Amino acid sequence: MRRYSIASIPGDGIGREVVPAAIEVLTAAAAKCGFVLEFRHFDWSCQTYLETGKMMPDDGLDRLRDHDAVFLGAVGFPGVPDHISLWGLLLPIRREFEQYVNLRPVRLLPGIASPLRDKAPGDIDFWVVRENSEGEYSQIGGRTGTGENEIVVQQAIFSRRGTDRILRYAFDFARRSGRRHVTSATKSNGLYHSMPFWDERFAAIGAEYPDVAADQYHVDILAARFVMSPERFNVVVGSNLFGDILSDLGPGITGTIAVAPSANLNPERRFPSMFEPVHGSAPDIAGQGIANPIGQIWSGAMMLEHLGEAEPAALVMRALETALIAPDIARTPDLGGNGTTAGFAQAVRSTLLGL
Ligand code: NAI
Ligand code: MG
Repeated sequence: MRRYSIASIPGDGIGREVVPAAIEVLTAAAAKCGFVLEFRHFDWSCQTYLETGKMMPDDGLDRLRDHDAVFLGAVGFPGVPDHISLWGLLLPIRREFEQYVNLRPVRLLPGIASPLRDKAPGDIDFWVVRENSEGEYSQIGGRTGTGENEIVVQQAIFSRRGTDRILRYAFDFARRSGRRHVTSATKSNGLYHSMPFWDERFAAIGAEYPDVAADQYHVDILAARFVMSPERFNVVVGSNLFGDILSDLGPGITGTIAVAPSANLNPERRFPSMFEPVHGSAPDIAGQGIANPIGQIWSGAMMLEHLGEAEPAALVMRALETALIAPDIARTPDLGGNGTTAGFAQAVRSTLLGL
């Protein structure tokens, strides 16, 4: 029997509610399809930080290293500054495990209304590929001078290796998924060094994929086009900062970020990849059992896909989409229903078992 070991880190707030709910659904999919998911739980969170002064133990990364994947809820909670929780848990995992691809689907699900007038499922269906390890998010720079004379410098890092590998991933992904069209987010009219280099590499890598169409837009007009004509996109690749913004704007046009998933991938599979919803710990609703588990469940489907279990992944998505339009299944309050996290997940689970 096929077995996968998964490190689960529920983290903070609603992470502790949506992770167990999603695990119920994934475990049911595994049982139905004849494989086993062995979840090992790591209780690392802001609570851990308040008790020990660290978000995870010193050997935390070593403890995760041998798993097939990491399944994360959310980290960050009032009482611990966000840069502490982020740089103490999430970013070390992404960077040490060379998860240099952040992959996010932007897809309007059935039963969810888009804030864009007249858009139906099928109209909005593309992927954002975000560079996840360098670019504008660096710790290089500094502050000097005081008062009126203060100067701040923040450096961006674009390595040839880092740029080429994310662009190549986008083209490979476009080819593999049959969406043979890659759009690059640039800003080479404003950023004098980094983006002309990015454009150069985009053209060079694109030339290796004559069967994949390539185009590029400055990120400002690209943002406008996400809203005005989302139908035109298939795969959109961007640097760390541009990809970060575009991959929240994307789910925004599909109605709610609560349903959006993401994958932090180490494509070479030297290290485990990490799967997590786009949303955070939602302190405003934490502990009430009403968080929407869809983003976590969909992240789980992406994890199954990564593990090579494409059919079970598709099964989870079909169950999710079926449950979303079933009149007798209560959706969570963010989707206008009066359902609970556990109740909706159970409904997805029994829908799945019945498919
Ligand atoms: P958030 O995503 O936690 O919440 C934003 C709004 O969306 C809130 O009103 C919340 O109730 C709602 N929401 C989010 N997920 C939902 C769900 N599944 N079901 C129903 N409603 C949902 O973002 P916020 O408030 O900016 O951040 C809260 C904490 O989470 C912060 O400490 C932040 O640093 C952390 N965070 C962590 C992330 C991660 O672990 N990758 C990502 C984003 C934020
Ligand atoms: Mg973001």
